Amino acid sequence: MLLPTFCFYLLLATACANDLLLSRKLPVPVAANSTSYADCANAAWPPSEVGVELVPQAPDDELKEMLNAVDSVRIEAIIEKLVSFGTRHTLSTQNDTKRGIGAARDWIASEMRNYAEQSEGRMTITVPGYIQGIASRIPFPTKISNVLATIKGSVDPSRVYVITGHYDSRVTNVLDYTSDAPGANDDASGTALVMELARILAKAKPKATIILGAVAGEEQGLYGSAFLAQTLKNSSTNVEGMLNNDIVGSSTGDRGQRDPFTIRVFAQGPPLTESSTVAARRLQIGGENDSPARELARFSNEVAANDATGMNIAIIYRLDRFLRGGDHSSFLQAGYSAIRYTEPNENFAHQHQDLRVENGTQYGDLIEFVDFEYTARVAKVNLATLWSLSQAPGQVRNVTVDTTALDNDCRLSWILSTDADLAGYEVVWRPTTASLWTHVVDVGKANSVTLPLSKDNVIFGVRAVGKNGYKSPATYPFPA
Ligand SMILES: *[C@@H]1O[C@H](CO)[C@@H](O)[C@H](O)[C@H]1NC(C)=O
Ligand SMILES: *[C@@H]1O[C@H](CO)[C@@H](O)[C@H](O)[C@H]1NC(C)=O
Ligand SMILES: *[C@@H]1O[C@H](CO)[C@@H](O)[C@H](O)[C@H]1NC(C)=O
Ligand SMILES: *[C@@H]1O[C@H](CO)[C@@H](O)[C@H](O)[C@H]1NC(C)=O
Ligand SMILES: *[C@@H]1O[C@H](CO)[C@@H](O)[C@H](O)[C@H]1NC(C)=O
Ligand SMILES: [Zn+2]
Repeated sequence: MLLPTFCFYLLLATACANDLLLSRKLPVPVAANSTSYADCANAAWPPSEVGVELVPQAPDDELKEMLNAVDSVRIEAIIEKLVSFGTRHTLSTQNDTKRGIGAARDWIASEMRNYAEQSEGRMTITVPGYIQGIASRIPFPTKISNVLATIKGSVDPSRVYVITGHYDSRVTNVLDYTSDAPGANDDASGTALVMELARILAKAKPKATIILGAVAGEEQGLYGSAFLAQTLKNSSTNVEGMLNNDIVGSSTGDRGQRDPFTIRVFAQGPPLTESSTVAARRLQIGGENDSPARELARFSNEVAANDATGMNIAIIYRLDRFLRGGDHSSFLQAGYSAIRYTEPNENFAHQHQDLRVENGTQYGDLIEFVDFEYTARVAKVNLATLWSLSQAPGQVRNVTVDTTALDNDCRLSWILSTDADLAGYEVVWRPTTASLWTHVVDVGKANSVTLPLSKDNVIFGVRAVGKNGYKSPATYPFPA
């Protein structure tokens, strides 16, 4: 990249920033020369003349203050309490006050109600449930209950973000509902994270609605999350993102490998709910890496991998780990974008195992294997992501790329939002082989733009910018 050319367009982009033309054509740049043969392979091609290098959104003071409030001691106490119920197996007793999933459910709900008292009426606690009939991992009709803390958005309450952890647990035999199943990591860690965020967010005023959920029935077949996702879908709720936290309590793997400053986020490619026409179109235009779930994962990386969280985010282009599934799948199946956070190195001797020592190895999901400071950092990643989503304008609607002419431009259009807090729009782009957005062009409060960058060579997205500086996840354009 040549510096003079770069600066020239940086100036142009700035000069145009306040211009409210509804359509805009930027001048054609002079092509820079490739510097080496390796560049194209390393995602440094095409040379970057359009827009400026994308700088990740930094947390503002309000968000930093909330991040500082995440307390590893509270997370430890919650996990300890959840473990104390002996087993939280979905089939375990629901009418003992000390042992079993019913006692755990009631305790989580009462804690959430305490947090809600700080919310001046913004946060409501509900325990919706249903009776699940007999199924492969449900030998008798069983009440499945979710504990939900809903914070009503102050500006855009009909736009919803969901975060969950599952509070049920298991041992080796998935039908064994009487043996001790501490589930300290799987998934008291995710449940504690969600509860700690509920405590902090109870005092905040998010613009969009946030639902924080402790869900049940995960180990028996994702029942609680499916019930939640279908309830939201049946009421045509606009869920613009779901974050699943499952096994977020340890960074030490079964070979002793440690990576305490990384969280994996699993993000599926093309949605299975897309019609065959849209799916075929997606493949034809090279959009297979730009599913809503992957845009959500990129968003999380942009707003939450920084000094304020102390974490790196490793995006995995995959629905989940091999042989495993999780509650994000329920939301993906309902047509929503959803991602899963999971620790970087797992120890399978500590998951889904009867408590025992065998050949000198301790098996079982015991609290002694949980790193509370690590879980607290993962909580910060989720808080930064969730808060940034809720403070930004909603995702941009009906983004299209004009493919009716053979030319070397890119013409993008979208629906102008009526959000009173909207400042304008940005086009983001990246080389097709790059994982994250590399460049951004401020296009003001327009509903279309023509960029002198060939639509054939890069991936584009459009995102909305709020007056508060928060930016929505990008929307990938399809041909009109
Ligand atoms: C590209 O390379 C040619 C030949 O070396 C040179 O004359 C030209 O100035 C270069 N263009 C740019 C934009 O650097
Ligand atoms: C406890 O719950 C089970 C079903 O989970 C029910 O069959 C039983 O009658 C209940 N016992 C009491 C004392 O309520
Ligand atoms: C959602 O709607 C479908 C179709 O009407 C129905 O079968 C299902 O029970 C509903 N689920 C929930 C959780 O409301
Ligand atoms: C423990 O060792 C015995 C004897 O070598 C072996 O059969 C068994 O599979 C081992 N258990 C585990 C969990 O590796
Ligand atoms: C936006 O997209 C939706 C769904 O594809 C479509 O039904 C609607 O007509 C579009 N609206 C406009 C103004 O293009
Ligand atoms: Zn789990």
